[in-house]
Amino acid sequence: MNQSLWEITLADADATQELGKQFAMVLPPNSVILLYGELGAGKTTFVQGLGEGLGIVAPIVSPTFTLINEYGEGRIPLYHLDLYRLENSDAIADLFPESYWEGQEAAPGITAIEWAERLPYRPDSYLKIELHQTEQSRQAKIEIISLSSQLQEAIQQLLTPDFPYHQKHLDDGFNHEKA
Ligand SMILES: Nc1ncnc2c1ncn2[C@@H]1O[C@H](COP(=O)(O)OP(=O)(O)OP(=O)(O)O)[C@@H](O)[C@H]1O
Ligand SMILES: [Mg+2]
Repeated sequence: MNQSLWEITLADADATQELGKQFAMVLPPNSVILLYGELGAGKTTFVQGLGEGLGIVAPIVSPTFTLINEYGEGRIPLYHLDLYRLENSDAIADLFPESYWEGQEAAPGITAIEWAERLPYRPDSYLKIELHQTEQSRQAKIEIISLSSQLQEAIQQLLTPDFPYHQKHLDDGFNHEKA
């Protein structure tokens, strides 16, 4: 049966980054990732992993002040939006976030949006990632909203029960690079 909701533990910042990197490997152009989670939950760290997976060398820094950063140098473009400073939905609508996922004005890429709860509207299909910090650990709740069954399967394979494998087996001397 196809699964569309996962909850995983992210032991440290490397695990959060690895999650982003793995998603960059499977997501096609025109993908949207909506990131939810309190201050410091790991949203930007996840996007840094996306950048790594796309082969972007430029440092990915939080666009808290610039609102949008565009990275064109990778395998496909990465659009990184941070809505934290936008107080109301009119200000967000003025940014035309949909221009990144409608694929007309911007070249089709991966769009990652921090503080997505502030969006007044959402794309038809997207990946929803909620990052959460408990007293003991960091958790990620990953939900697929209307993605193709092919993509759903790819994500299912990526989120094996022992994710992130590199993390768990880091010191056992084996090479756990995926083929
Ligand atoms: N799984 C994790 N375990 C422990 N620390 C983590 C984890 N993931 C990220 N971090 C660390 O948490 C800190 C905040 O991360 P980050 O800037 O990515 O959060 P954010 O959600 O983007 O914050 P903001 O809401 O300010 O945009 C960083 O120091 C990062 O290295
Ligand atoms: Mg951030």
